[in-house]
Amino acid sequence: MQDNRVLSGMRPTGRLHLGHYHGVLKNWIALQNEYDSYFFVADWHAFTTHYADKIDLETNVIEMVVDWLAAGINPNTATIFVQSKVPEHAELHLLLSMSTPLSWLERVPSYKDQQLKLKTKDLGTYGFLGYPLLQSADILMYKASLVPVGEDQVAHVELTREVARRFNYLYGREAGFEEKSEAAVTKMGKKQAKSYRSLRKAYQETGDGEALIKAQALLQQQQNITLGDRERLSGYIEGVGRIILPEPKSLLTKASKMPGLDGQKMSKSYGNTISLRDSAQEIELKVRRMPTDPARVKLTDPGDPEKCPVWQLHKVYSDESTCEWVVDGCTKAKMGCVECKQPVIDAMIAELMPMQERIAKYQADPELIKQIIHEGSEKARHIAKETMSEVREAMGITY
Ligand code: TRP
Ligand code: SF4
Repeated sequence: MQDNRVLSGMRPTGRLHLGHYHGVLKNWIALQNEYDSYFFVADWHAFTTHYADKIDLETNVIEMVVDWLAAGINPNTATIFVQSKVPEHAELHLLLSMSTPLSWLERVPSYKDQQLKLKTKDLGTYGFLGYPLLQSADILMYKASLVPVGEDQVAHVELTREVARRFNYLYGREAGFEEKSEAAVTKMGKKQAKSYRSLRKAYQETGDGEALIKAQALLQQQQNITLGDRERLSGYIEGVGRIILPEPKSLLTKASKMPGLDGQKMSKSYGNTISLRDSAQEIELKVRRMPTDPARVKLTDPGDPEKCPVWQLHKVYSDESTCEWVVDGCTKAKMGCVECKQPVIDAMIAELMPMQERIAKYQADPELIKQIIHEGSEKARHIAKETMSEVREAMGITY
């Protein structure tokens, strides 16, 4: 297990918007300074839902990486890579698919949800059903301890844990693990061996957590067995052996506080976004057109900020005194909505203009972007190759 490693990925949906920036990228930027971070473009994942659509994947991948860099992901600190440049992901996905029960994939909530949501697409495909398993391969390849994701992805990390556990159970046993474990049990002495066996049985048959704890405690008290035997017997209670693919944990990103122009979550499919590349004029126009509290028909009608999407944006961008100015001006009908919106427009422009200067610089140097992707992918591949040789070795594919 790489205790200090974080891994996360994003599908190449093209240019990013403020929802991505406030909801994901700012979090990644903070993590990159604390962890050995791997951020990748999940380009194969795009085909799980868009296999029939003509999309310019190359442009989407490049533009997304440009946006990451411009937002502050540092390629000297974090490793940025592209999934398809590390084809080992496909091999691990294939090998994991052999032992993954169909029912585990069918019960991932996004499987049915997305099928209902994207009714115009035929998502009754093998690839779509298996996409959370591809994600498991993405994660397990790097033995990352933490996976920063939003709420919607937590179930996928849970699946990854189960997949890892099963893999370790099936292939992690050393040669003769069971025999060695059984021999160690007899060394415990008759009485202790008997309790160990009954606790192990209780745990294995019913998942009794108490029994697991008692059995582990029993092992700790043993004086007459070696350390190796103790470790073996500890794994033997759960039926596992060597841990080849450690179980990751999700690092839940707080729900993005970034509302869209209509107060719903900012998302391309709702058409309520401000792109990281929108010009100052576009930003101004979009915010000017935002709906406000419908009660404020005339300037003299008092309003309620809680009923206004502009207020949600003030909560993201404005300091305390500006927020007080909004509440006072709105509820007492002291100012109009146009005036109220101005500080939000100014803050967005101030946030995005320096980012856009960096975007322009990277955009002008596509070779540099390709080189960053190449170097990151090579680095990722180095780890992927190591993991795959352990996986192949455990499965006996070494000839
Ligand atoms: N499925 C994720 C999404 O749709 C993207 C993704 C693919 C991912 N592989 C991953 C995220 C591995 C975290 C870790 O957003
Ligand atoms: Fe919204 Fe501001 Fe208008 Fe109140 S004054 S309704 S908070 S835009």
